[in-house]
Amino acid sequence: MSTTDVLGLFPPGSRVDAGGELVVGGCRLADLAAEWGTPLYVIDEAGVRDNVRRFRRALGAAWPRSRMVFASKAFPSTPMYRLMAGEGIGVDVAGAGELAMALAGGVDPDLIVMHGNAKTTAELQQALNAGVGLIVIDNSDDIDRLDELGAAGQRVLIRVLPGVRPDTYEAVATGQAGSKFGLPLPAARAAIERLRGGQLQLDGLHLHIGSQILSAEPYTRAVEAVAGLGEFGLYNLGGGLGVRYTYADSPPSPEEWAGTLGAAARRCLPSGAQLLIEPGRSLVAPFGVTVYRVVSVKGEDPRFVAVDGGMADNMEVALYGQRFEATLASRAGGGHPVELVGRHCESGDRLISGVPLRDPRPGDLLAMPVTGAYCGTMANNYNGALRPPVVFVSKGTPRLMVRRETLADLMSRDVQS
Ligand code: LLP
Repeated sequence: MSTTDVLGLFPPGSRVDAGGELVVGGCRLADLAAEWGTPLYVIDEAGVRDNVRRFRRALGAAWPRSRMVFASKAFPSTPMYRLMAGEGIGVDVAGAGELAMALAGGVDPDLIVMHGNAKTTAELQQALNAGVGLIVIDNSDDIDRLDELGAAGQRVLIRVLPGVRPDTYEAVATGQAGSKFGLPLPAARAAIERLRGGQLQLDGLHLHIGSQILSAEPYTRAVEAVAGLGEFGLYNLGGGLGVRYTYADSPPSPEEWAGTLGAAARRCLPSGAQLLIEPGRSLVAPFGVTVYRVVSVKGEDPRFVAVDGGMADNMEVALYGQRFEATLASRAGGGHPVELVGRHCESGDRLISGVPLRDPRPGDLLAMPVTGAYCGTMANNYNGALRPPVVFVSKGTPRLMVRRETLADLMSRDVQS
């Protein structure tokens, strides 16, 4: 791969400097690694902000009465909540933990959408106490609980299962018949009836058909499927737009995605309705880079290059088989295919099979792009791994936003030692 091809997967504006070093958000990855160690999550903050604005513009152009929330499960930490709040958008939360972080990050409760297929009474109570704007009803137990809690006047949406299977990984397809999420059309109809006679305020419907979806077409079918349920003031069409992880991926642009949603809404939904979208991955993934250090290089065929992280900081590969790309931070582009593996104790901890690297040696820094969504979220302590720090970079200035976990953190919950 040429250096230009490789840079195309990194945040816009990434470059190789005169010394041959990879620069992201105006900062040399080598400098960031020297200061904060590896593995390290680097987030191009200016890139995320520009992208949020681009999505909002695209959606506003496609459907003027619209708004966007960030599906915060893609990057749930207070600095990211604060960034999104600063951009004037709300967030979706999937439970009390994300709700607490959102509130701590300064998100306006009225702009919070609460999800979950197993919301407990305690979580619903916390959502009510916080004054969360919208609660998404996934099942009739949600309605029972909210009624018991005396949630009169709470604005709610009903999550509808449209029976649409987008082309994505089995584990993250959520719109098809048999999914554990939402209510199939007949059950949704019954829930609508029930809510119309009750104390909750039914604002509209919610759909979320899956994640890492690389075509806008299934969204059209999903909107068509729910249009027959009646006319509502609000339609939350979820998230799920895929991103370009590999050279071969070509996801719809935000403009294409929003355009498809707008066109489907024009054909099928009431013209005065408000559209809400809740992208997660597509807002942040392309702006994250994980920096590792090469620890060992072994063998010829295959040639294993092992780094100081792996499935403890990136579960995407082991869980879904997601393909990533990577490059050496000081010798970007070119090279011969190697087996890039992590440091964890299972053979499934193989980060990228057949990634070309140029003369990899122990001590080199390796940069893996498009890790800004769900990698930090699902980071874990396998083999005693310490979860990596998060550094935001913007126009040449790095800021440590989340520190590395410590050995003391690792043992901090052990009551008896
Ligand atoms: N709305 C709802 C109700 C969701 O469940 C999700 C993601 C989103 C929005 C945002 O979807 P996105 O735009 O990020 O695709 N753990 C998996 C991802 C699971 C996505 C779950 N729901 C991963 O690591 O790839």
